[in-house]
Amino acid sequence: MTKPTTTQTGTPVASDAHSLTVGADGPTVLHDRYLVEKLASFNRERVPERNPHAKGGGAFGTFEVTEDVSAYTRAAVFQPGTVSETLLRFSSVAGEQGSPDTWRDVRGFALRFYTTEGNLDIVGNNTPTFFLRDAMKFPDFIHSQKRLGDSGLRDADMQWDFWTLSPETAHQVTYLMGDRGLPRSWRHMNGYGSHTYQWVNAEGERFWVQYHFLSKQGVEAMSAEEAEKLAGSDADYYRRDLFDAIQRGEHPSWDVYVQVMPYEQGKTYRFNPFDLTKTWSKKDYPRIKVGTFTLNRNPQNFFAEIEQAAFSPGNQVPGTGISPDKMLMARVFAYSDAQRYRIGANYNQLPVNQPHAAEVRNYMHEGQMQYKFNDAAHRVYTPNSFGPAGGPVADAAAGAEASWESDGELIRSAATLRADDDDFGQAGTLYREVFDDAQRARFLETLTGQGRGITIDAIRERFFQYWTNVDAGLGEALRQTVPVAEDDLDKELASL
Ligand code: HEM
Repeated sequence: MTKPTTTQTGTPVASDAHSLTVGADGPTVLHDRYLVEKLASFNRERVPERNPHAKGGGAFGTFEVTEDVSAYTRAAVFQPGTVSETLLRFSSVAGEQGSPDTWRDVRGFALRFYTTEGNLDIVGNNTPTFFLRDAMKFPDFIHSQKRLGDSGLRDADMQWDFWTLSPETAHQVTYLMGDRGLPRSWRHMNGYGSHTYQWVNAEGERFWVQYHFLSKQGVEAMSAEEAEKLAGSDADYYRRDLFDAIQRGEHPSWDVYVQVMPYEQGKTYRFNPFDLTKTWSKKDYPRIKVGTFTLNRNPQNFFAEIEQAAFSPGNQVPGTGISPDKMLMARVFAYSDAQRYRIGANYNQLPVNQPHAAEVRNYMHEGQMQYKFNDAAHRVYTPNSFGPAGGPVADAAAGAEASWESDGELIRSAATLRADDDDFGQAGTLYREVFDDAQRARFLETLTGQGRGITIDAIRERFFQYWTNVDAGLGEALRQTVPVAEDDLDKELASL
């Protein structure tokens, strides 16, 4: 039998369709508590969208360690044979919640491991690098990719103005304008931690690591024409593809690899290994396999489990940690701060964010929407003299954090340059040695379109210079292709 509708406090209601009014034609009364409750609830349905990475989708899965990397980390989640629950959220960076999935963009790849030592989040992208190396510029970068203050429009001048004034962006912009900017689907892209992280083994030995998640579906791209068509006909193309594939029982999976650099080599490597705009050479630091994860469960509720998911690069576990990457250190602050605003003070108590394989024990309490509480004997302060019943006691050995030496004056400066530190070198290598001929041809076509979108001469000139710095031949080619040919202009005018 169908059960009666109730108020939020469980009382049966008399109608799903009619407000309480004075007679059939009279005014609505304020004491129709169910109508008021229903409208009030509706008015509060939306939480602020993520800024950035608003549009996305995700699924749950299982990670299994198939190899032995215990020489590098003592983290329980990476010990041989360990199986952990995972959550992966994919996203676009610049677009809003309703934006088309197939607009060219870098894609977010936020991976959570629910481990027995708490949640470990690797919040990366489908590229191994990033646009910047100092967090101070991050809000400006995102502003330049979103919308103009006056018209509310996205704007090529603004994007290229920022990029060409920030040469450290060249490597990542080369990835973005190449095939990775338009993946065939979320299933057909790799993920990368992008930053350098730290691993610590049972003996306390430290290593620098880079995480690589290689798609077992293969890495495939979509043509610009197809992407443009899909942006109009199916704005949720990637979200639908992932959900439907899992629903059909086609469970996508990724192999987990790490590049491992001995701690001391971090001091002398030929370029700064904590510079997020660089990749480490695979010849110097080959990929070492760790295991495989598979996505096998769709969310039951998109809002509760994906929209309210709160990832943070600060969620590390014993045996893993961050590094002196200036971007990463700032991200440890930024994510939880955003989530306290976006979701609420006790966002980590939500089912998707609370640890699934570990317990929470501490002396934090109260605040909005608090629903978890300790038993009465648990003290609300530490230290206390009530023994185990009084509450937990921190354990330096269990909680050992990643660390590194650091000394110097407090100053505002770029990091010290090493022999191979520059802005354009790796971008040029990516263009000349990693892209094949077909990829280079598509790249030139994409950049030609981008260059034609720039309306300010000084910015277009910097655009040519920027790509000349990446590769002289490429810069020269763009100087030929970007200016719209007289014939094309005539045709355009004729069609008006
Ligand atoms: C200092 C630099 C950065 C800052 C301040 C920053 C800030 C943020 C903020 C505030 C959010 C929204 C979080 C939320 O509301 O839940 C976010 C989302 C995200 N960021 Fe960053 N970010 C930075 C750099 C990066 C980098 C370098 C990467 C990748 C390597 C990255 C990948 C992501 C991803 C994947 C998401 C979406 C997470 C999800 O799916 O919930 N961000 N970022």
